[in-house]
Amino acid sequence: MFSLLPPDQPEGEAAFHLAEALPRTPDRGNRAALLQDKVPFLRQRTLALAVAPLARLGIDVLAGQFVYAQRIEDALSRASREKQSCFSFDMLGEGARTAEDAKRNLAKYAVAVAAAGRISPQRHGVSIKLSSIHERYDAPSFPRIRGQLFERLLGLSRAVAASGIGLTIDAEESERLALQLELFAELSAHPELSGWAGLGIAVQAYNTGILRTVERLAAMARLRVACGAAPLCVRLVKGAYWDAEVKRAQELGLEHYPVFTDKRCTDLAYLAAARLLLDETDTLFPQFATHNPITLGCVLALAGTRRMECQRLHGMGESLQRSLRRLAPALVMRVYAPIGPRRDLLAYLLRRLLENGANTSFVRQAACAADLESLPGVKPDVLG
Ligand code: FAD
Ligand code: 2OP
Repeated sequence: MFSLLPPDQPEGEAAFHLAEALPRTPDRGNRAALLQDKVPFLRQRTLALAVAPLARLGIDVLAGQFVYAQRIEDALSRASREKQSCFSFDMLGEGARTAEDAKRNLAKYAVAVAAAGRISPQRHGVSIKLSSIHERYDAPSFPRIRGQLFERLLGLSRAVAASGIGLTIDAEESERLALQLELFAELSAHPELSGWAGLGIAVQAYNTGILRTVERLAAMARLRVACGAAPLCVRLVKGAYWDAEVKRAQELGLEHYPVFTDKRCTDLAYLAAARLLLDETDTLFPQFATHNPITLGCVLALAGTRRMECQRLHGMGESLQRSLRRLAPALVMRVYAPIGPRRDLLAYLLRRLLENGANTSFVRQAACAADLESLPGVKPDVLG
């Protein structure tokens, strides 16, 4: 099973190299060479594991698990049959490399937003990575491209607000956090968006500055509501770029890692941030995204009757959602649903692969427990 990829073994390392290098390799020839270099080795060592399907160009297998649909129309028709969930659609295409990529990605969002708004306002939303709508979304270029990126984001936000759905700005690498927050602050204070209750941002608990970030967002939300505007949404996640963050900090010889290096610290920070968010429900709508039942259980206990929602990624956490439905039938579970063709999904799939393969992953531990059949009564089918 792909979730048992051992990250501390050579095959785990090879998968990590692939995860890092493939999305940055622009042309087909070099991508093929990279796969050829890493994959035969992986195939020898991990026949039944995740990268073997990759070697056989079996990305479809993984795509079927983690990607909701190839086109927004198919996604909406599928979602209309899954009445018990709300959705946040992610039009895959992060890390635009050229101005054309960014333009195409923005256009995909415009189509998705119009379609989702027509079919089901209120119920759905979109999630967007800023790196998908500007090819130079990085700290050195930021002073130069800030205005252009903000205009794109504002234009999209206007369209999303007019469609009556929500928009969440996904969290990406830590060096982009300050840029993301700066743009979000300006967006949240924009008078044209004041009546819109669907504006949201994702923040990562593995970031050592998470509590400061949450306090800053709480201050933005308070200011907004004090001016008569609608509350903000905040999605709390643990963070999907851990391996890359650690490696980059090592390469740069940074004095401190930007992320916790002990998983327990991330888990604890998640709960501390959850508590802060739950104390601000007059001005914030907290959204808790995790597949870890212990984390989710603690959040439920902290939340009591306060307003909030839970979120899961498509292809994960279905059984957790079923349990939650029995436990708290009124609680909304939103599904993050990636949409796109095969050429756009590699980076996303590889993150899921690394995340589920890590020793520290709850999903992996549950899967190991299932393999060993050593925990009677435990139902570790968290992948559904
Ligand atoms: P767990 O197994 O409890 O936690 C795994 C997480 O712990 C890892 O992902 C990592 O963050 C952290 N971790 C692992 N090892 C260590 C270590 N040694 N030291 C410290 N921390 C460690 N991620 C984003 O980055 N941006 C997003 O916008 C985003 N949106 C999401 C939306 C939804 C609906 C969901 C469900 C997840 C989203 N994620 C996003 C992914 C998320 O950040 C996690 O990677 C994923 O949910 C796994 O965390 P967990 O709580 O489910 O599982
Ligand atoms: C990711 O793309 C879900 O935003 C998260 O990995």
